[in-house]
Amino acid sequence: MATPTIIKLQDGNVMPQLGLGVWKASNEEVISAIHKALEVGYRSIDTAAAYQNEEGVGKALKNAGIAREELFITTKLWNDDQKRPYEALQESLDKLQLDYVDLYLMHWPVPAINHYVEAWKGMIDLQKQGLVKSIGVCNFQVNHLQRLIDETGLAPVINQIELHPLMQQRQLHSWNATHKIQTESWSPLAQGGEGVFDRPIIRDLADKYGKSPAQIVIRWHLDSGLVVIPKSVTPSRIAENFNVWDFRLDKDELSEIAKLDQGKRLGPDPDQFGG
Ligand SMILES: NC(=O)c1ccc[n+]([C@@H]2O[C@H](COP(=O)([O-])OP(=O)(O)OC[C@H]3O[C@@H](n4cnc5c(N)ncnc54)[C@H](OP(=O)(O)O)[C@@H]3O)[C@@H](O)[C@H]2O)c1
Repeated sequence: MATPTIIKLQDGNVMPQLGLGVWKASNEEVISAIHKALEVGYRSIDTAAAYQNEEGVGKALKNAGIAREELFITTKLWNDDQKRPYEALQESLDKLQLDYVDLYLMHWPVPAINHYVEAWKGMIDLQKQGLVKSIGVCNFQVNHLQRLIDETGLAPVINQIELHPLMQQRQLHSWNATHKIQTESWSPLAQGGEGVFDRPIIRDLADKYGKSPAQIVIRWHLDSGLVVIPKSVTPSRIAENFNVWDFRLDKDELSEIAKLDQGKRLGPDPDQFGG
């Protein structure tokens, strides 16, 4: 079986291409979910201050018996904290019981308050202080990214955006790639697969490879060069979602899945959200 793949970021750091998302998991749920994930091979966990489960993530990691340097922990700067990134990160680190996070992401641009460039400068300082290894953003559109680059000279290494077969974001993915920004897919299963898992192409590929629809969709993200963080608190699904290293989709199969794109957001519009 092939080994889990690693992605090299523009700042020279590396991260697992497949991790566990924990949005909507409670502090209790997240402990058993992370223990199961680590047991089957995950090393990357995606949380956020706004998920209110960093304490559970911290407890899970503390008892996991995995060396810190083998783990890749992501958390996020919430919108209300854009004016206090240092304090917000300290609060996250305290809850996570960590000295640093591997990746700190600005959660939304919130153009209505127009503070994201200043917040980005604060995050650059946090990286210089060694409190975060890599810095990136979520939900940034091209104009927001261009401003960060123009006004600070430093592009994020990651742009984590809503991306699944119904919302493929090909233009933004391609713009990110041109600027050496890695695209990371949130809600990669379209929040449980409704309208995706039952599509004929997904079912046919599942039959062909002896895999589940979720595994086909996760493989589509991996073979499209995306970092992907499916969420589950169900032990069997956590294991299933990581059992994707023994097959690959070919070009024609990727093109067939490309036809499912409807430009359909499940989450908010980043130009409107917050503020
Ligand atoms: N940056 C942002 O603004 C942002 C926004 C949204 C999400 N995210 C991140 O992205 C992660 C993933 O997104 P998401 O949680 O919205 O949605 P998702 O990963 O697309 O889907 C999660 C849902 O799918 C179910 N599921 C998982 N594996 C399955 C399988 N093999 N078969 C059938 N159903 C399955 C889960 O149920 P169970 O848990 O009950 O098993 C859960 O209801 C989040 O957890 C979070 O870390 C980031």
